[in-house]
Amino acid sequence: MYKTLVTLPRATAIAGSNIAFVKYWGNLDDTLNVPMNGSISMTLDAAHTITTVEFHPDLPADELTINGQPADWAAVKRASAHLDRIRDLARKYWSARIISTNSFPTGAGIASSASGFAALTLAATKVLGLNLSKSELSRIARLGSGSASRSIDGGFVEWQPGGRHEDSHATPLAPANHWDLVDIIAIISTEHKKVGSSMGHSLAHTSPFYQARLGTVQVMLQSVRRAIKEKNFTAFGKLIEEEAISLHVSAMSSRPSVLYWQPGTVALMQALRRWRDDGGPVGYFTMDAGPNVHVIAQRKHAAALQEKILNVQGVQDTLFCGIGSAARIIDSDLHPFGYGDSHVASLGKDTQNRLPTR
Ligand code: DP6
Repeated sequence: MYKTLVTLPRATAIAGSNIAFVKYWGNLDDTLNVPMNGSISMTLDAAHTITTVEFHPDLPADELTINGQPADWAAVKRASAHLDRIRDLARKYWSARIISTNSFPTGAGIASSASGFAALTLAATKVLGLNLSKSELSRIARLGSGSASRSIDGGFVEWQPGGRHEDSHATPLAPANHWDLVDIIAIISTEHKKVGSSMGHSLAHTSPFYQARLGTVQVMLQSVRRAIKEKNFTAFGKLIEEEAISLHVSAMSSRPSVLYWQPGTVALMQALRRWRDDGGPVGYFTMDAGPNVHVIAQRKHAAALQEKILNVQGVQDTLFCGIGSAARIIDSDLHPFGYGDSHVASLGKDTQNRLPTR
């Protein structure tokens, strides 16, 4: 007996996560993720998300699987709300099956929303026939997760705060091959963080230090931009540590206070400074809204640093990343994990079982 095969509209995109050097913290508009300040980041290669979006005429509701597991209700709701924005733009209203895989383990404590929403935006807009510019993609990705606006581009990226939805999107600052930096992510905790970034953004305004942070951020942006342009690693490293501390001071002093650091976070911050003072391998720290430490280094020091980092008490593991390129559509036949037979799927329920596996 022959099974009826139907070609379904489907596209697959890959996007790298990013690490911010000047950080997004606090919104002018919490619903639209229009930030209080600009931010600068580097797109990462080894921490990425691959997402396939497949629209079905007869699917009752959107479905989402992440790393081979059905996603929890909150994640489905967030992805579905994002698809609604794209469906509204395209004026096409089928439900979708979203199949997403991260290059890093789900429980590693590494945020996947930047790469996840960048890949989802690109795949969904492509499959619905919207041919959008990078800035339009960045603006839409921002609505799903602020930092995702920076993951549409590769290399060094700046998110222009804009002040309103139409103007708030990222632009490229320097290409991936401009400077050979690496990010050694030290995994301190794999626990799901209790206070997510969205809550952190809304609490930021309650910190007495937040206004001071906003008062210095323009100069910080200029200085980090210049250090990247001139590839001045010492200046750059000092600035990114100062900036990460400024964000965490705002978080710690908000009401209620948000304390992301663990003993291992502080131990590694201290160790990096000690190694620098002692003439050892040079790395500088930065942390997002969590306990894990991103050690930014020049590639020549990467191997020696990684070895030392793994010996610091409280460090469970490391993930080594170079600089990633822009989000792009990939042919599923070329999927790095062997996913995809062709762009033909049966209308059965088996799609989730053909997930890419690591
Ligand atoms: C501290 O709102 O983009 O990492 O909650 O994961 O969507 P999600 O994060 P987002 O906030 C990121 C905040 C930050 C700094 C930064 O990446 O700029």
